[in-house]
Amino acid sequence: MEGEKGTVCVTGGTGFVASWLIMRLLEHGYSVHTTIRPDPDHKRDVSFLTSLPGASEKLRIFEADLSDPESFGVAVNGCIGVFHVATPVDFENREPEEVVTKRAIDGMLGILKACLKAKTVKRVVYTSSASAVIFNDKDADVMDETYWTDVEYVRANKIFGATFGASYFISKTMTEKTALEFAEEHKLDLVTIIPSFVMGPFICPKFPGSVHTSLALLFGEKEQYGSLLNLSMVHVDDVARAHIFLFEHSEAKGRYNCSSHTITIQELAKFLSTKYPEFPIPPAESLKDIKGDKMAGLSSEKLLKSGFRYKYGLDEMFNEAIQCCKEKGYL
Ligand SMILES: NC(=O)c1ccc[n+]([C@@H]2O[C@H](COP(=O)([O-])OP(=O)(O)OC[C@H]3O[C@@H](n4cnc5c(N)ncnc54)[C@H](OP(=O)(O)O)[C@@H]3O)[C@@H](O)[C@H]2O)c1
Repeated sequence: MEGEKGTVCVTGGTGFVASWLIMRLLEHGYSVHTTIRPDPDHKRDVSFLTSLPGASEKLRIFEADLSDPESFGVAVNGCIGVFHVATPVDFENREPEEVVTKRAIDGMLGILKACLKAKTVKRVVYTSSASAVIFNDKDADVMDETYWTDVEYVRANKIFGATFGASYFISKTMTEKTALEFAEEHKLDLVTIIPSFVMGPFICPKFPGSVHTSLALLFGEKEQYGSLLNLSMVHVDDVARAHIFLFEHSEAKGRYNCSSHTITIQELAKFLSTKYPEFPIPPAESLKDIKGDKMAGLSSEKLLKSGFRYKYGLDEMFNEAIQCCKEKGYL
């Protein structure tokens, strides 16, 4: 473990990306405040966080909810950095899109206002998503940070043939835009990181949706195949490393895509059937007529030019995810 670097706050500590980030921040010498949603009956098992190396001395868990924007103040107080990772996830449209988006924006603004009030926060790293970049009418195979998802396009075109995911795509787009505007207006140092599908192992108890979808060919979940036509991915440890890099890199500014590999569904089927012959992977040929939206890849050139390097390839992403799924009983 490295020496003491100060205290940072990570929102949504129970999540896939945030829990991995907390583990790495502790290893890097940071003390961490994390927020989880209120749990009045103390039913939630957070031992996967409290048992992390260094957690007993350097991790404090606070309760906060994006529906109560002022609830983040206590956790942010005294921090030199804030990683705002939590987000409402509602792929099944249980709530109207406007409600989800409003919660995400109001919660984010509550966090940024707490940062201004604390006066100790040097930088905020906001976790956005490829879904804030790629859904638009632009005809490009690869998109850099100048591209934005067009909210009206998402509403009109029903990406993935239905309203599936629309509230997530819209809330991620509008929250990132509002965060950048608020930061500019209030002279708050804020950068955004834009991962593609996050893949790899996980320490959180919930089975991460992105790992589940990336393994759809293994599980034979045909309804997911349409989202795998052109899959851009990045290892969770590279995502955590990029968050820390962007916090520490003094020159960082604006948006940063974070995506190391793009693979078509047929390439993925070939890759998986060679590496994991024990699973009944559909033959690549049988997948050539799968219908769906071919998503653009993300260019990480800006992140790479800043000096960041990816550490993991497809082998590690899939090996480690599959191993972890086996250990946790999902496979
Ligand atoms: N995984 C990916 O492929 C991917 C790709 C691109 C970007 N991202 C971004 O990365 C971040 C983390 O994603 P993830 O995959 O780690 O998702 P996740 O595992 O579902 O984590 C989401 C976190 O947000 C929390 N949360 C949800 N609603 C909340 C609310 N109202 N108030 C406070 N916290 C709330 C969740 O708490 P509960 O545990 O209580 O539900 C959970 O801790 C998100 O910003 C996501 O948009 C993820």
